[in-house]
Parts: sequence; structure tokens; C-alpha cells
Amino acid sequence: MTYGRGPRAVEALKGIDFELCGGECLGLLGPNGSGKSTTIKLVLGTLRPTGGSVVTFGGPAGRRAARARTGYVPEEARRFGALTGRETVDLFARLQGVRGRAERARRVQEALEAVGLAREAWRQRLAGYSRGMARRLAMAAAWVHEPDLLVLDEPTSGLDPLGSEELLSLLDRHRKRGGAILLSTHDRVTATRACDRALVLAEGEVVLEGALDDLLADDDSPSLIGLMRRPSHG
Ligand SMILES: Nc1ncnc2c1ncn2[C@@H]1O[C@H](COP(=O)(O)OP(=O)(O)O)[C@@H](O)[C@H]1O
Ligand SMILES: [Mg+2]
Repeated sequence: MTYGRGPRAVEALKGIDFELCGGECLGLLGPNGSGKSTTIKLVLGTLRPTGGSVVTFGGPAGRRAARARTGYVPEEARRFGALTGRETVDLFARLQGVRGRAERARRVQEALEAVGLAREAWRQRLAGYSRGMARRLAMAAAWVHEPDLLVLDEPTSGLDPLGSEELLSLLDRHRKRGGAILLSTHDRVTATRACDRALVLAEGEVVLEGALDDLLADDDSPSLIGLMRRPSHG
């Protein structure tokens, strides 16, 4: 995947290849600029590959049918400051085509409870949310239409330990229902708790790949620990 052209072109990904099945969580690990967000945007179909192909749910990434089955938590979620948390999640449910008032209300409530915002979300407008609360709300918005695939870019950055733990248990719940997860992270706890497998990226290439247990058990790969300890700046 190359951004731009000519002398200023940036080759962000140099050919990476992976598959993801239901009930599985694949982690994208690596330092800033290694190509994690680019990979995620290609899977969502918001970015078109300049080479190779991306297939989700049996067709080219980004089709309407695939988008309806996907929930996305971006690195920085946009905040509609004038809406309450509940209104925001309800808006996402509508946009994702959740039909019927009662059904929508049930799912909105379930998603808000799952991220621990059921009470705050009734009254407080997003303008007043802390970074961690906004992160949780983004998670509820991504989950409200019960997607098969959850895609999360640095989901635990900005969360306190309790917030991270709640998010991770939500991911567990999603997987137990047979859902798939693709997530990028710098955080070792997030990676070890959430992921079965991981790709470690460096400068757009996969430098390590495998089951997380093996990656962490291997004394010859201190680079993995080093990479994951770097602070997150996006
Ligand atoms: N819109 C863009 N235009 C040009 N270059 C970009 C763009 N987005 C990302 N890049 C470049 O692609 C590389 C990978 O970026 P990114 O996928 O955001 O990395 P990560 O998410 O791992 O920090 C970096 O060199 C970055 O500068
Ligand atoms: Mg990124």
C-alpha cells in the first residue's frame, strides 16, 4: 500500500497477508508508523489498496454488506458534543439499520451497560466526557448493531485499568458469540488478554507472527516486548 506518488510517495505496507475467522482475535502490534492503522483502513475498505487485494465476508472490503457486519472503533472517535451518550449510540444503531424502536432501545441499553456507561449516558453530553469515557462510548457505538467483525485501533489507549478490563471482557463476550476481532495495540496487557495471534509490524512489513503465547515465551524476541512498551502516540 503506497500513499501518494512520485518522489513523495510513502510505501506504508510492503505486502502483508493474513486471514481471520469467527471466534478469533488477531492483534496488530508495532511501533508508530509501522502500518497498523493503514492495515485497519484497508480491512474496513475506507482505503483502497494500491496493490494486492482485501477480501472481507467473501467480497471486496468496504461493500455495504460487509460494512453492516463490521463495527469500528477508530483511534480518535469524532464526538458530537451536543448529543448525550445514549443519543449517540442510538444514532449509530439507526445508521447501521437496527430496526424497531423497542429493539433499538434494548440494544442501546445493552451496549451502554456493557461499557459501564448506562447511567451517565442518559444525561451527560459528549462535550463533557473524559477521554476514557469517550473511548467506552465509541466501543458501545461500534457494538450496538451486533457486528460479526470488530475492528479496533488502539482500543485501550487512554483507558484506566478498570476501563481496559471492561473493554477486554466485552471483547471476550463478542468472541464467545463467534465474532472476530482485529485490533491494533501498543499495550502488552491488551495484547496478551485479547489476542490469540499477532502480527508484529515494522516499517510496513511483518517481522514476527504467531500465537501470542509463543511470541512472548520466545526469549529471542525481546524486540516484541520493546515494541509493545513504546508509548502510544497513534
Ligand atoms: N494519509 C496518509 N498520507 C501519507 N502517508 C500516510 C498517510 N497515513 C499514513 N501514512 C504513512 O504510512 C505509514 C504507516 O502509518 P500508519 O498505518 O498510520 O501507522 P501506525 O498506525 O502503525 O502508527 C507512516 O509512514 C505514515 O506516515
Ligand atoms: Mg495508528
